[in-house]
Amino acid sequence: MPWANLRLPPFPQVAVRILQLARNENVQLHQLCDLVSSDPAFASELLTVANSVLYAPRYPSASIVQAVAVLGANTLQGMCVAVGVRAYLGKTMSYPAMRALWRHSLASALVAQRLARVCLIDKDTAFTAGILHDVGRMGLAVIQPAPYAALLDRHRGAAPTLLDAERALFGWDHCQTGRRLVEGWNLPEEIQSAVFQHHQPPSPDGVCNLLELVKVSCELASALGFAAFSGCETPPPDGLLARLPSSAHSLVPNGLAAFAKDLADSIHAIEAI
Ligand SMILES: [Fe+2]
Ligand SMILES: [Fe+2]
Repeated sequence: MPWANLRLPPFPQVAVRILQLARNENVQLHQLCDLVSSDPAFASELLTVANSVLYAPRYPSASIVQAVAVLGANTLQGMCVAVGVRAYLGKTMSYPAMRALWRHSLASALVAQRLARVCLIDKDTAFTAGILHDVGRMGLAVIQPAPYAALLDRHRGAAPTLLDAERALFGWDHCQTGRRLVEGWNLPEEIQSAVFQHHQPPSPDGVCNLLELVKVSCELASALGFAAFSGCETPPPDGLLARLPSSAHSLVPNGLAAFAKDLADSIHAIEAI
């Protein structure tokens, strides 16, 4: 199928606008409130997520104004993108393969958030990049749900090998689709490269930036039971963690099996909403 024929439905505009606004240090919280409130369905889902076990607020928020004030702009940004990704997948979530995709994105975001500190990266930025890194898969899922779900169900191999199969089926892989989706969003360069380049090999010079964190988080999420497709082959999780500075081990003090359990609990909590 020629790429020109792939008409990507637009990503929820509220989430895109929040992404753009939240990076502006001068943004007023009331602007964020107004923006979220402009889409009542989005606002209500956001409020539910904000009050879920995932964020475990001591005092649940009764309104968007309160939620925005409690969470702050940066956490709100990641949460809005999470709600946006789920809304974008919409009815395609009836396919088990698409639910696995959603879980993979959420798990990658939670892993990136947990490990962000070793790369001196803000944890909310890490979460946002993690939830967004496979947004191109969501694009393919929305355009061609049945063929893409079938591909995800049958493919076996390391995650990058799926890119060839996507190109064979659609003409474009999910990294290229992700680029096409986010190119007009005016996102920070580092988040864009997490979308375009996360299946490239690890950097040979050992840098620890947002892109390298997302590469590890995507693979670690897969290795801990939240792969984007069931036949995804991953290196052992210990080896993946070893690609980050050694202090990363201190961020999973109870070991990787316990971390996997934490991820499962968080994901189930948000899925129960
Ligand atoms: Fe990917
Ligand atoms: Fe991924």
